[in-house]
Amino acid sequence: MELTMLKDMFVKEYGEGEVEVYFSPGRVNLIGEHIDYNGGYVFPGALTIGIYGMLRDREDNIIRLKSKNADGEVIVDLDKEIVYDEKDDWGNYPKGVIKKIKELGYNVKGFDILFYSNLPDGAGLSSSAAIEVLTAYILLHKNKGEDVDRVEIAKLCQEVENKFVGVNCGIMDQFAVAVGKENSAILLDCSTLYYEYVPFNLKDASLVIMNTNKRRELSESKYNERRAECDKALEIIKNYRQIENLCQAEISDLDYIEDETIKKRARHAVSENIRVKDAVKVLREGDIEAFSKLLIQSHNSLRDDYEVTGLHLDTIVEEALKYDGCLGARMTGAGFGGCAIAVVKEGKEDEFIKEVSKGYKEITGIEAAFYVTKIGDGVKYLGRC
Ligand code: GLA
Repeated sequence: MELTMLKDMFVKEYGEGEVEVYFSPGRVNLIGEHIDYNGGYVFPGALTIGIYGMLRDREDNIIRLKSKNADGEVIVDLDKEIVYDEKDDWGNYPKGVIKKIKELGYNVKGFDILFYSNLPDGAGLSSSAAIEVLTAYILLHKNKGEDVDRVEIAKLCQEVENKFVGVNCGIMDQFAVAVGKENSAILLDCSTLYYEYVPFNLKDASLVIMNTNKRRELSESKYNERRAECDKALEIIKNYRQIENLCQAEISDLDYIEDETIKKRARHAVSENIRVKDAVKVLREGDIEAFSKLLIQSHNSLRDDYEVTGLHLDTIVEEALKYDGCLGARMTGAGFGGCAIAVVKEGKEDEFIKEVSKGYKEITGIEAAFYVTKIGDGVKYLGRC
């Protein structure tokens, strides 16, 4: 987006003067779902769509938060205690981050900020991680310039989401948003936070995000339920083998688990972690067909063993796979609605979108949305204007 357009938006809200502009992307996970909190490998990338933050310093200790995508404003008085408040809605994410960064001893002063998002909300593309990481980056960038530690940002934002917002997520989303790099996916070991960039090159195919436009339902309670089931599986296997996280288990260890449900959850985690390593290997070799097949296997495992897909995600993936030029597809993110991804032969994208859209609507009655995407950079400063 043009900086001048962003500046105009800000000026309309807050008046004339210089403005600083920052950007934080959404993320897509290519493979490695429900793995971060099980200590294995994930393989996400940052998107080129996300949230912009336009701001101007104030003379006092007030931070005024507004969003082009929502009504009202949220005021943070830096001289008072910052507390979670349901009526502040999305404002709680930046509030939590401001509180945390103050506690870490950084210098935080007043400013007016306007957020503008072109990321579909509630679609599982991590708009919450994007606004958290954006706020943290702005505050640290003001203290340290380009010298900010992106892994630290991911960690502190995950902590805010867990403790201030109260959502028990893993590290993947905040990490991808903070550390992302153009045209690269991130292979992240969630137990050590060691990561590598892997060139994301689908050769003569494109990555298409398919938004079911079905808001994620029950996602939080089901998410916590899955986490607890995985903890249970780990506890059982630990009676027989010395492992620290579920992804260190082997398929044969699943025999120790009697409860069928717990066994299925563990089978997903262990097999998905293997698929991530395989997917990275074949992608590096340029074997896009093999990569795409692993995406399909990942979806099937999330549907049958982890049970986090549901009618809308299953339908959109099935419709995608019916199309001849689609090499592979799977749900992405937490599941229970939200988005799926597909690998589609270049030049076929428009026809693919038309066909899938039609088939999906016939079954669900809902209009899906599609984005032909590229992998973009992590959070960044765009400049002053
Ligand atoms: C959500 C969470 C992540 C991760 C995914 C599932 O996006 O925020 O930490 O667990 O679900 O892979």
